[in-house]
Parts: sequence; C-alpha cells; structure tokens
Amino acid sequence: MNEEIRRAARILRAGGLVAFPTETVYGLGADASSAAAVAKLYAAKRRPAEHPVIVHFDEASRAFEWAREVPEAARLVAQRYWPGPLTLVLRRSSLAQDFVTGGQDSIGLRVPSHRVAQALLREFGAGVAAPSANMFSRPSATSAAHVRQDLAAHAALVLDGGASEIGIESTILDFSSGRPVLLRPGHISAPELETLLGRRIEAKGESAPRHSGGLERHYAPRTPSRLVPTHALDAEIARHGEKVAVLAFSRPDERVDFWIRMPREPAGYAKRLYAALRELDSAGCETILIEQPPQGSEWDAVLDRLQRATG
Ligand code: TXA
Ligand code: MG
Repeated sequence: MNEEIRRAARILRAGGLVAFPTETVYGLGADASSAAAVAKLYAAKRRPAEHPVIVHFDEASRAFEWAREVPEAARLVAQRYWPGPLTLVLRRSSLAQDFVTGGQDSIGLRVPSHRVAQALLREFGAGVAAPSANMFSRPSATSAAHVRQDLAAHAALVLDGGASEIGIESTILDFSSGRPVLLRPGHISAPELETLLGRRIEAKGESAPRHSGGLERHYAPRTPSRLVPTHALDAEIARHGEKVAVLAFSRPDERVDFWIRMPREPAGYAKRLYAALRELDSAGCETILIEQPPQGSEWDAVLDRLQRATG
C-alpha cells in the first residue's frame, strides 16, 4: 500500500483525481488549492459549479487553517469526533477559494479516520477536495467496485480500502452563523451532539447555505423507488406483480425475485444501504419498494437518505 499511497499523492500534486476510501463512503479527491484540479472533479461528477465541496485533512490543526474563526463549540466537537464521520462548516479563510466553496463565505472541513484516507492525506500534506465518488445524484459509492462503475474513466487511481464501515455520508454541522445547525444527519446523531455541547442544535432552515445533499432527489437509483409502510407492503407487491424489487426487514416473499433483507438496527442498515440500492437498481425492475424504517431518532440518518432516494 505504501508505494500506492505515494503514487496517489503524486497524482494529486500533478492535478489528477484519486478515489479513496473513507469510513463513511468513498471520495473522489483533488488538490483543494488547484482550480484546475477541482474543475476536473466537477466535470467528472457532472456537478454544478455552485455546489461547494468538502475539503479533507489528516488533522484538525491543518483543517482549521482554512477557517477564519473556529467557535469554541466547533473545537469541542472536533476534539471529540475527529478523526471521524463528521464535517464542520465554518467561515472560510483566504485558503478556501471560491472554486471549492461554490462562492459561499463558508467551507466544509473533514478529518476522516479510515487508515487509507489518513495515509493519503498525511502523504499529500494539504487539503484534498472530495465529494462522494459517485455520479452526481446517484447513490454514493461504498466499495472500490462502485467507484469504478461510476467513474472509471475519470479517476487516475482508485485506492481500495474494502467496504465502507459506516456506509452513509458524514454528519454535517454548520457553525457559520455562530449557532450550530445540522445540515445533514449521519452516524453521529443530533442528540449525541446536543449532549456534548449542552445546547439545542437547529435543523437546517431556509437560510442555510446551499448544499447538493439538500436537493430533493439525491442518492437515487434510476429505477423509480417508493417508501412503503410495513402494513401496505404486501398489497403493493401484489399490485406490481413480478416487476418489483424489494428492500425490507422481513424474509423474502416468494412472489418477488429481487428482495434484499435489511438489518433491523440502523448502523447495520446504513452500512448496507447503498450497495443494496445499487443491486436492486440493476435488477431491471419497474419499481423498487422500500419498507419504511421504524420510528425513532436513531433512524434519522437512514430515513433522510431513503426519503431522498425516493424523492
Ligand atoms: O462522508 C462524506 O462527507 C463524504 C466523504 C467522501 O468524505 N463526502 C461527501 O461529499 O459526502 P459530497 O460532496 O458528496 O457531499 C457534501 C455535502 C454536499 O451536499 C455539499 O454541498 C455540502 O456537503 N457542503 C460542502 N461544503 C459546504 C458548505 N460550505 N456549506 C454548506 N454545505 C456544504
Ligand atoms: Mg455526494
């Protein structure tokens, strides 16, 4: 792996794109200080230029150089959860240029914990801009194979770190207004953050900065997908006949050829979610039916991704 890491860092320095594993999902990385490299990233993902991208670092002190002020509460959260599945949005310093912030006055910063991501970021020694390594608006990639399916032609190198441990994108906490606002729920939950900070965290409001994960239909399979309450699943399957694929908690129904049974516990569910959506998407069915997860805030992050996938 060491030689591969050195090669990956050389590619980044030369303005190329490298896909790498993180504990959440795979990222497609570019030198965050190079307008040309970041432009390549946006072209590869077919991502609109006004959407900001998260910049990744090996440690907090380097990340915070990209912010012009770091509120005490943000420092506390970083101390507790970095390296880990958390992104902080802070007011940007002059290092964060318009081409990574989408012209906004804030910057998304993240210090991932995955050992391959850590090795790459340490070797590169500077910020790596990295959106999830999927085609714009498709489900994120949680394996090197997913990255190749979506972006084979665009990444000079795909570092393989196995299946992503968490499986859904990082929690995004925005401090740019001074008060903490949750822009994207994730493995680190809002109640957990509220306990640490000893204050309420607002849910994203109308004035929150633009972010593409906030678009209504996102992380979506190509096959039309619907969330279905448990009690209605049986009738929906009967209505669709053979042309339906199902993501559910119960054992497969023999009428259905494409059925994936999901764990009844949110972390296990999140870990398998995108691979399952990609698999059912490739079954060539007319519809994907997704059984609604149970009530409860521990399902917030999963429910958020399911709602977007079913748009
Ligand atoms: O887990 C993750 O965060 C993964 C891995 C690769 O680190 N990355 C990821 O990046 O999910 P991406 O670009 O697919 O989603 C990042 C989200 C987008 O919705 C983006 O618009 C938002 O974060 N974002 C980035 N910078 C922002 C900022 N300054 N203000 C508000 N939202 C921001
Ligand atoms: Mg994404």
